[in-house]
Amino acid sequence: MNPQPGFLTMRPMTLDDLPQVYRIELDSFTLPWSFNSYVHELTDSRVSRCFVAATKDDNERKKILGMIVIFLIEDEAHVATFAIAPQYRRNGIGWRLMLHAFKEVCREGADHAQLEVRAGNQSAISLYEKFGFVTVGTRKNYYVDNHEDALLMNLDSMNLEKLAVIESRFLASDSE
Ligand SMILES: CC(C)(COP(=O)(O)OP(=O)(O)OC[C@H]1O[C@@H](n2cnc3c(N)ncnc32)[C@H](O)[C@@H]1OP(=O)(O)O)[C@@H](O)C(=O)NCCC(=O)NCCS
Repeated sequence: MNPQPGFLTMRPMTLDDLPQVYRIELDSFTLPWSFNSYVHELTDSRVSRCFVAATKDDNERKKILGMIVIFLIEDEAHVATFAIAPQYRRNGIGWRLMLHAFKEVCREGADHAQLEVRAGNQSAISLYEKFGFVTVGTRKNYYVDNHEDALLMNLDSMNLEKLAVIESRFLASDSE
């Protein structure tokens, strides 16, 4: 599946999305968030910004293809969770969703971003590096399931102009 113009929509997550979001969570992570964590992020948290990638087809029940949650703390955007449904990966949905979320938080005042990623998660690390994230540290034995290290990655300066450049680079490599 290649996302065609008009097929995908990026929008804020709603409570109605949560059953599908939670399925993706379970399919994507060995230490998944609970369903109630998502309820909390949507209803109680002042810092959470939650977005989904979804199909746009009005004739079908909308399908959720991926989600991202960002904690916006003053000028910092912390990527708290991010996943695309396994059957839709490697189609350019991940970068589009992250870009959409970053544009939204930039409009609210974020000017840098940070995240933690498993040291062995090459797919995600490659995506983050294409956004300009650099590894600034390691947390040893961070993940309790397999004691894997976490890499701390920072995107030091983030603004709408830079995101537009990143978008054009992704679009150029998509069309190659
Ligand atoms: C990481 C993840 C969100 C990427 O989503 P995606 O929609 O597959 O990513 P995209 O198709 O937009 O890919 C963008 C870039 O990411 C990198 N990438 C994505 N999947 C990759 C893979 N399987 N192998 C190597 N690089 C990969 C590539 O650099 C790719 O660019 P390219 O296709 O031009 O080579 C997805 O793999 C996922 O949900 N993984 C499980 C959950 C997870 O690890 N989340 C991150 C937690 S920190």
